[in-house]
Amino acid sequence: MQETRLNIRGGKRLEGNIRVSGGKNASVALIPAALLAGEPCVLENVPDIQDVRVLLKILREVGAKVEFAGDTLTVDGSTMNTHAATSPTMHRMRASYYLLGVLLGMFGRASIASPGGCDIGARPIDQHIKGLKALGADIENKDGVLSAVAEKGVHGAEIYLDVYSVGATINIMLAAVLGEGRTVITNAAKEPHIVDLANFLNAMGAYVRGAGTDIIRIKGVPKLHGCYHSVIPDQIETGTLMIAAAATCGDVLIEGAIPAHMEAISAKLLEMGVRVKEGEDLIAVQSDGRHRAVSIKTLPYPGFPTDLQQPFAALLTTAKGKGVITETIFESRFRYVTELARMGADISQVGRFAYIEGVSRLTGALVDACDLRAGAALVVAGLMAEGETRIREVHYIDRGYENFERKLVALGADIERVRVDV
Ligand code: UD1
Repeated sequence: MQETRLNIRGGKRLEGNIRVSGGKNASVALIPAALLAGEPCVLENVPDIQDVRVLLKILREVGAKVEFAGDTLTVDGSTMNTHAATSPTMHRMRASYYLLGVLLGMFGRASIASPGGCDIGARPIDQHIKGLKALGADIENKDGVLSAVAEKGVHGAEIYLDVYSVGATINIMLAAVLGEGRTVITNAAKEPHIVDLANFLNAMGAYVRGAGTDIIRIKGVPKLHGCYHSVIPDQIETGTLMIAAAATCGDVLIEGAIPAHMEAISAKLLEMGVRVKEGEDLIAVQSDGRHRAVSIKTLPYPGFPTDLQQPFAALLTTAKGKGVITETIFESRFRYVTELARMGADISQVGRFAYIEGVSRLTGALVDACDLRAGAALVVAGLMAEGETRIREVHYIDRGYENFERKLVALGADIERVRVDV
């Protein structure tokens, strides 16, 4: 049997300019949203990553037409012939559950196979269900298929989310835009891709106001139409590149970013002694390698993103002093801790906390990427380490980073993708 690995010979300084790709989390919401138009929609700046490829397969399976060339994706939902997305492909990604909101909005009924995705904690969907029920759907979960039926059609409702949830906010928006009447989502998520989704839906003729605040107001419209939209840059890829630049004492200019989305990361890097400068769509990161340890606590946007705590932990392993990471969103996002320890990090985890005492250097080792962002953490650690780091389970990284190693190689990293016999 063969497996794919990333072999990284660490110690190379990252230098130069790099353009960030379109957002993964935005794309996986906007792509199913495009079906609602009932005619072709064109999305630009779509990243060619595994999660997008899987989603396109799902769209084809429900009868939609999709064409993906370069970073431009055309989605045409007018040919769809089913309200059921129940194929095994659905298990291959978490965000496949957005089909629930979309199909319910389009047909007044939806059946989806239970979604998959990275195992980073319990990930319940009670708030999605609460929201869709309020919109008039009866929901049944039987034999791994989640079905929603709104006999009298989807109607507006006032929905208070008990838990701050990106996914639930998006699913409710998707179901409500074609519904009858007004919907108000209170305690809505404010992540940048929620705003991007609202802008996209509005470009399709929807009425969505307040995205980016705690309260989103939607007025249902009978019909939407096709449009062009450019996906926002990837906040997490931008942050990962910023962290990698700092971790290698680098000098990197990130292009095509939205600096306002990066405030929490920029603030923490500055606190560590890294230089961060922002232009209109540029972020420059420079470091002399003398980093002070800091503590971080993951929070909903605009707080420190849970998706960046893992790569940030890698950076902290050689900072001077002790840093504490508090994970408040997903309890199982510390599975990289043992892998970093294998590389010589002084790191331990107790419950929702990880404690890191800076060491002088990491050393290369054979490590496993146990989820997408853990994989990013190990890439950063590998770039910092002395000697060779060999990362297994690369498919996790491929789910969410477009041309990751090619981008890092362009900045001077020594990374090779290899197939080895095991
Ligand atoms: C999204 C992002 C993911 C990011 C996460 C938090 C996408 C495709 N993925 O995931 O990268 O790490 O936001 O910023 O955008 N919860 C409930 N009940 C629910 C829904 C969620 O209890 O019905 C809990 C979850 O278990 C978790 C928290 O709420 O503890 C946040 O989850 P949520 O914001 O829904 O994350 P995702 O949308 O899955």
